[in-house]
Amino acid sequence: MSEATQQKNSQYYIDLENEYGAHNYHPLPVVLDRGEGVFVWDVEGKKYYDFLSAYSAVNQGHSHPKIVGALVNQAKKLALTSRAFHNSSLGEYEKKITLLFGFDKVLPMNSGAEAVETAVKLARKWSYEVKGISENAAKIIVCENNFHGRTTTIVSFSNDPDASKNYGPFTPGFIKIPYNDIGALEETLKNDAENIAAFLVEPIQGEAGVYVPDAGYLKAASELCKKYNVLFIADEVQTGIARTGKLIACYHEEVQPDILVLGKAISGGMYPVSAVLANNEIMKVIKPGQHGSTFGGNPIACAVAMAALDVVEDEKLSQRAESLGNLFRSEIEKVIAKTSLITKVRGKGLLNAILINDTPESSTAWNLCLKLKENGLLAKPTHGNIIRLAPPLVITEEQLLDCVSIIEKTVLEYIK
Ligand SMILES: Cc1ncc(COP(=O)(O)O)c(C=O)c1O
Repeated sequence: MSEATQQKNSQYYIDLENEYGAHNYHPLPVVLDRGEGVFVWDVEGKKYYDFLSAYSAVNQGHSHPKIVGALVNQAKKLALTSRAFHNSSLGEYEKKITLLFGFDKVLPMNSGAEAVETAVKLARKWSYEVKGISENAAKIIVCENNFHGRTTTIVSFSNDPDASKNYGPFTPGFIKIPYNDIGALEETLKNDAENIAAFLVEPIQGEAGVYVPDAGYLKAASELCKKYNVLFIADEVQTGIARTGKLIACYHEEVQPDILVLGKAISGGMYPVSAVLANNEIMKVIKPGQHGSTFGGNPIACAVAMAALDVVEDEKLSQRAESLGNLFRSEIEKVIAKTSLITKVRGKGLLNAILINDTPESSTAWNLCLKLKENGLLAKPTHGNIIRLAPPLVITEEQLLDCVSIIEKTVLEYIK
C-alpha cells in the first residue's frame, strides 16, 4: 500500500517510531496530535486530560495563545543569531528573569540537563577561583535517587542502573548521600568542607517518585552550606515555575539558593529553554569563551520565556497549584479509603504521586495507566509502582474533580 492510501491511524505512527526511532523510551500506546489547555487529542480524535504535562513542562497548558503568539511573532522576525552578536530579546529576558527570581545574573541554556551541567561547571570554577580549592580536587555532594538529566557527567552520579550502566568511564568528584538526611549532609561537610564546592539537590525528588523531604530540610541544608562556604544548588527543573504552589519549591522554606537551575516550564513547554541563575560573585568566574551554546538565549527562546513567565503571574498559577493541590490530595484520600489498590498519595501543589499496592517490578501501575487512558486521562508510572499525577496548572476545579472521578472509577473497576 502506498503511503498516500495508507490509513494514518495511531498504529501507523507507532510502527514508524518503532522502526525508525531509537528505542530509548517506552511510551504509553497513544499518539497525540493536538493540545489545548489541559486537554490533548489523539490522531483518532479521542480527547484526554493530560496528567503528566510533559514532566511538568506544560504548566501553562497546551498551546497557550499568549505563548504561541510570542513564538510566532518572534519566529517571523528573528529566530537565531548565536551569541556572536547581541539580539534585541536577550537583555529584556535576562532582566525579567533575574528580577523575578532575585539574582544578579542568568546564564541561558536549552535543556534541563545542560543547565545542570552548567551549574556543576560554575560551582567547580567558583570553588577553584574564589573558595581556593586546589585544582581538580573539588567535590560536589549529591543525593541518592537523584534525577538531574542524562549527560555523561550527570549519570556519573546517578544510582539508577538504567541511567548509567555501560556509559562509563564516569566523571569523578561527586559524593552521594541519602536524600532528606540532614545529619548525613552535616557529617560530610564537617569531614571535608574545604574540598567541597556545592550541594546539588532537588527540592522534591520528582523522577524518583515525588519524594517530598521533611519540612525544614531545605532550610537546614542551605544554612549548613552557608556555614561551610559551600554553594547550595537547587535543581528546580521539575519543581519550578509554580508547579508546587510557589514560584520555586525552595520558597516554601524561604530558601534562596546560591545557584538556581530552571528548565521545562520557563517556556511553558513551547520551546527548549533552561537557565542558571546566580549572583555576581559566583557568575563572574565564567568569562567569554569559557562556556556557551549556539541556541542558548536565542530570540525565540527569550520571547517565549517572557510570555510564559507572564502567564504564570497573570493567571496566578502558583496560587492555583497550591489550592488545587490541597483539594486533589484530600479527594484522592477519599478514593484510597475505598480501595486497597492505592496505598498513599503524596506531593506538593500539583506535583503529586499515588503509590500502587504492588511491587516496583509488577506491571500493575502500567496496566492501571492503560485503563486511565481508556477512560480519558493520561499518566505514566515512574519507578514501577508509583504513578505521577501532574496536570497543567491552568486546570479548573471542576476539571480536577472530573479527573478524580476518572481515577476513582478506574481504580474501583481495576482487576489485576
Ligand atoms: C530535576 C530535573 N533536573 C533535570 C532534568 C533534565 O531535564 P531535560 O530532560 O530537559 O534535560 C529533569 C527532567 O525531568 C528533572 O526532573
